[in-house]
Amino acid sequence: MKDTEQHYGGVSRFNHWIGALIVIAMLAVGLYFGGLPRGDEKSYLRSLHVSFGGLLFLFLVFRVLWRVFSKSPQPAPQAKQLQLITKVVHWILLLCVLIMAVSGPWIVWSAGYGINVFDLFTIPTPIDRMQGLHKNLEVIHEYTAQVLLYTLILHVLAVLKHQFFDKDNLLARMVKRMR
Ligand code: HEM
Ligand code: HEM
Repeated sequence: MKDTEQHYGGVSRFNHWIGALIVIAMLAVGLYFGGLPRGDEKSYLRSLHVSFGGLLFLFLVFRVLWRVFSKSPQPAPQAKQLQLITKVVHWILLLCVLIMAVSGPWIVWSAGYGINVFDLFTIPTPIDRMQGLHKNLEVIHEYTAQVLLYTLILHVLAVLKHQFFDKDNLLARMVKRMR
């Protein structure tokens, strides 16, 4: 289950792919409603985003902490500069996910509301309404989403380069169960 020197273990692979699905879905919905004028569609999609966010933010924080504290596999064999760029890109992605997962709930709480999860239950706000904090968190959430988007595009392009130009099947490290 745990990472070894050579391979990503089951927890890391689960975290990567379920995390990727969540991040891409949250990003797509967020970028879409972020560009809409005020109205019913925007409010509906925002409440959907917040409901999923309320359910999933602890998983996203766990996903990042697992990477920070687990013994990662050795970097894939390639030029030293590329290994360094890969490391930087992965850490930017992790930092962005952490910032998004933490700032999201606090945007809602600092507005003085609880996080309503699909009208099933509400995670109450631990603080009073703080307008200044709320505005700043909105800006942080919005700009970090942009950094996340472009870094993610770079990450996926790099994986495609490995698959189709280098033909080193890097993807297998993150897909296959190895012994
Ligand atoms: C279709 C989308 C994606 C593909 C094909 C993909 C593919 C991969 C592959 C093959 C690796 C292993 C690289 C290596 O062994 O050096 C990897 C690692 C990684 N990926 Fe992705 N990825 C995708 C989406 C994402 C997303 C959405 C995130 C987070 C925002 C992400 C974050 C990371 C991180 C942080 C690592 C380093 C290992 C880890 O922390 O789990 N990836 N990815
Ligand atoms: C990786 C996870 C997440 C991603 C990628 C993401 C992405 C986004 C994006 C792109 C926007 C639109 C920003 C704009 O242009 O205004 C947004 C807005 C928002 N997100 Fe997230 N988000 C994530 C997690 C969360 C979580 C966990 C919550 C709360 C539980 C949350 C709550 C909100 C709220 C309330 C807004 C609206 C802010 C406003 O009205 O300006 N997000 N998110």
